[in-house]
Amino acid sequence: MNIQIEDWILQIMSNLTLEEKIGQMIQLEANEKSELLLKKNSIGSILNSEKKALDKFKQVNKLSKDNIPILFAVDAIHGHCFIDGGTVFPTPLTIACSWDPKLVENIGKITAKEMRITGYHWTFAPNLDLARDPRWGRVNETFGEDTHLVGELGSAIIKGLQNYEYPVIACPKHFIAYGESIGGRDSVESEVSERKMRTLFLPVFQRAIDAGANSIMTAYQAMDGIPCTINSKLLKNVLNDEMGFEGIVITDYDNLSRLHTEQYVVDNLYEASIKGFKAGNHVMMATEKFMDHMIRAVGEKRVSITDIDETVKKILRLKFKLNLFNNKIDESFESDLYQLGGVEHRELARKASEESIVLLKNNNDILPLKSRDIKLSVIGPNSVDRVAQLGDWAIRDNYGKKNFEMGSDHNNTYVSVLDGIKSLFSNTYYNKRCDIDVNELYIDEMITIAEKSDIIIAVIGDNNSFNGEISDRASLSLPGKQIEMLKELKKLGKPIIGILINGRPLILNWLDENLEAIIECFNPGLEGGNAIANVISGEVNPSGKLSISFPRHEGQLPIYYNQIPGWHGNSDGTGDYIDITHKPLYQFGFGLSYNDYEYSDLIIKNNKIKKKENLEIQISVKNKGKYNGKEIIQVYYNDIYSSVTTTKIQLVEFRKILLKPNEKKIVKFSIPANRFSLIDKNNERKIEEGEFEIMIGKSSDKMDLLKDIFSIID
Ligand code: BGC
Repeated sequence: MNIQIEDWILQIMSNLTLEEKIGQMIQLEANEKSELLLKKNSIGSILNSEKKALDKFKQVNKLSKDNIPILFAVDAIHGHCFIDGGTVFPTPLTIACSWDPKLVENIGKITAKEMRITGYHWTFAPNLDLARDPRWGRVNETFGEDTHLVGELGSAIIKGLQNYEYPVIACPKHFIAYGESIGGRDSVESEVSERKMRTLFLPVFQRAIDAGANSIMTAYQAMDGIPCTINSKLLKNVLNDEMGFEGIVITDYDNLSRLHTEQYVVDNLYEASIKGFKAGNHVMMATEKFMDHMIRAVGEKRVSITDIDETVKKILRLKFKLNLFNNKIDESFESDLYQLGGVEHRELARKASEESIVLLKNNNDILPLKSRDIKLSVIGPNSVDRVAQLGDWAIRDNYGKKNFEMGSDHNNTYVSVLDGIKSLFSNTYYNKRCDIDVNELYIDEMITIAEKSDIIIAVIGDNNSFNGEISDRASLSLPGKQIEMLKELKKLGKPIIGILINGRPLILNWLDENLEAIIECFNPGLEGGNAIANVISGEVNPSGKLSISFPRHEGQLPIYYNQIPGWHGNSDGTGDYIDITHKPLYQFGFGLSYNDYEYSDLIIKNNKIKKKENLEIQISVKNKGKYNGKEIIQVYYNDIYSSVTTTKIQLVEFRKILLKPNEKKIVKFSIPANRFSLIDKNNERKIEEGEFEIMIGKSSDKMDLLKDIFSIID
């Protein structure tokens, strides 16, 4: 604790009225009501508002009694996307396919920079929910389905956001197990035992805390009957005492009111405000009436002024941490505004997109295309769909549905798939855009165009009306008439390359059987068109691996790779359905390259390790292809016999390496024994002695993995 800062804080606090103190705990959009509060020196933070409004609020604030700086917050989920000229990176689910923490850290760094040079301080990111049910509309916001991968990438982006020249506050969310809501339906109750919560979900947030996250957002949903926002055991005993989190807890959007109007655990907002505050929330998002209720609660001695003081101190500390009390700091950052959307930022966006593209199928090595003179036809709704390509949390107008009061259209800065391809392949034929419901007129035109080409590029998938909050799907089919469209194209007998732009796994069985090649791009961002063109031309050799599993049928859900075995069914314990396999179409960690990589010589250096030691292993990987390429080596383990049931395959480490043609590298891993720990029947983390299987290879499919055994001893 910095004594000088603490003294300053005490001095500021001594000047504040009760209303002004409570104001620090309130976050609203910039509108007439918040302006009124601002004039009374009684608002601490503003969310999702235009830069114009920010500038105005800063001016008004200058005239206020204490001029306590306002924290301006924004959902900068994959870049500072809501600002005109901001760089839109691929969505988190997409970037996660790069399995590249350094890249993700750099994205955080550029996002923070673009935020600060436009006057914003706090982003509601990263989303650290696990995407274990693709029916849930928000899987696109997450880093995928696995605890270890999400933990690595989540902590990387937090460092990028908070630790560089233009620091902002990160806000990992949603605490906790929000992605686990039943049936994939956004914000309904989730069924999570304490052991499951400690095994899968808390470790990700622990990584975020260890990375220095300064704030955390609570989840909307309830678990075991208690909405996360008022679960004091979770917020105080677990988050503060056990996990050591000392930062700010913020509610999700007007969650206090929802306790009353949707979750029905209190019959008025007064009680909701008291419960929310007492449970451990410090900033109340979008609950304007919190002010009146807290004043009353203090008057009626339901809430102590000491507790309010402690909360306000925390908020002021954060403002000091960002140096906001220095009036000149925002101005000095904003003098760098000319760097918004700069060349380097775009280059990073393109690189991120290239590194995230996953090649799912490549029959007869049709890709990379053998010549730049080849005749291509570019067909399909997503060849020029800005909204689909940029993904959720990126634009103002979501097919007529207004996202927020703020936002940009990115009309002039995005490169469509069509434009990207045209820039590299001069013989490209195309017609005007069709939508996902492909009308008959389009089909006729499309056939005329496709007939002229040697290869058809079908740019398909879903779009933002199928993804995001309150956009859960029961069916994961390719929406609209796209399959019909593909069937018409197929009749021409020409090879079809499918380029998928979509926010979540879709059922791709027909495509897998009928297309020559499939490239999964998810939502590749502003530079997606260039990145895709570079991949099909061979400028870039694809290296992405799936951050989420793709089912064959919705009835298989959940389909995440690390399921706990039962005792009926297959020998691997997972059990088939009588009418369909339990296996996904494309498994977590899967992704092809233009090369083949050969794994050999798995060596365990110390096959008996103690609980404080590291397991030392190595593997040889050889590039057997003719291109430079990157391979993501994945290390999984299986705790063979354990006191409680555990998954038979869990990611524990990974590394991306670069290999020239014919090059062979020995790659070494040093893995601490505590990574092989489990949560025991008393809900305590333990490293159990016994034998473990280590598995290394190119995907989570056991056929792709080399295996050996080691033991943990006392
Ligand atoms: C979402 C949050 C988001 C907030 C502010 C909520 O509805 O659940 O993730 O940060 O809105 O936009």
